[in-house]
Amino acid sequence: MEPLLEVEGLSVRFGADAPPAVDGVSFAVSRGEKVAVVGESGSGKSVTMLSVLRLLHRPPAVVEAETLRWKGEDILAMPPARLRALRGGEISIVFQEPMTALSPLHRVGAQLVEAGMLHGQGEEEAEARAAELLRATGLPRDNWTAYPHELSGGMRQRVMIGIALMARPELVIADEPTTALDVTVQAQIFELLGRVAGEGTAMVLVTHDMALAYQAAEKVLVMNAGKIVEAGPAEEVFRRPRHPYTRRLLASVPRLDG
Ligand SMILES: Nc1ncnc2c1ncn2[C@@H]1O[C@H](COP(=O)(O)OP(=O)(O)OP(=O)(O)O)[C@@H](O)[C@H]1O
Ligand SMILES: [Mg+2]
Repeated sequence: MEPLLEVEGLSVRFGADAPPAVDGVSFAVSRGEKVAVVGESGSGKSVTMLSVLRLLHRPPAVVEAETLRWKGEDILAMPPARLRALRGGEISIVFQEPMTALSPLHRVGAQLVEAGMLHGQGEEEAEARAAELLRATGLPRDNWTAYPHELSGGMRQRVMIGIALMARPELVIADEPTTALDVTVQAQIFELLGRVAGEGTAMVLVTHDMALAYQAAEKVLVMNAGKIVEAGPAEEVFRRPRHPYTRRLLASVPRLDG
């Protein structure tokens, strides 16, 4: 498989003298690959993904890596215009709190169109793509001209998925915050995201939900205290966890089947 994203020896600290929040992390994501990142709150999952897109404010963040490459291109050397094209164009992040990601002042359909035009689509092309995505996510046509506050939470999620996929990204990162209340909703969002994005789109799912990680991902990265302590095929990591931390993490999952 062709590697899309290559990360080697990534470390992040917030302030030169602070202990690392991410400590020597290495992983790769191949074209079309589905990867889950699990680990307790504060283990460095979000910081890892944000630093890949250079979305952390520097300072205070100090980001270092031996390798940080997107399709062979050095992300740390990208000029601002190249980074803007990368973000949302080739790599999208779906944050699971839609009200912070959507503009309250613009109609949702128009927000999709704008996302497409920002990444080089003409107006007609963007409108066609927006309609295709809103249809695919199942947002009723009556709601395409609504403002975000007029929609239910689930409808807003559909809009966010649409925005994330407008420019046909090759990698989609879905980051679940600790505060996500409803794991059923999270699973639905991820399923819809995968279905609408299509098989060939690589996905990274940051989650606390081990069952979802097991179902949705081919590869799992287990993070603890800023390090990847275990990584491998989902089947192996979940069936035969080698690291004590992974075993503890799995033991904390309630089981219905005994
Ligand atoms: N902007 C920031 N400034 C200072 N410290 C930060 C900042 N962002 C994150 N951290 C710290 O980095 C560490 C890793 O945080 P991160 O958000 O990556 O955790 P996480 O694994 O995503 O947790 P959760 O599952 O709760 O989302 C934490 O100790 C956190 O306090
Ligand atoms: Mg997080």
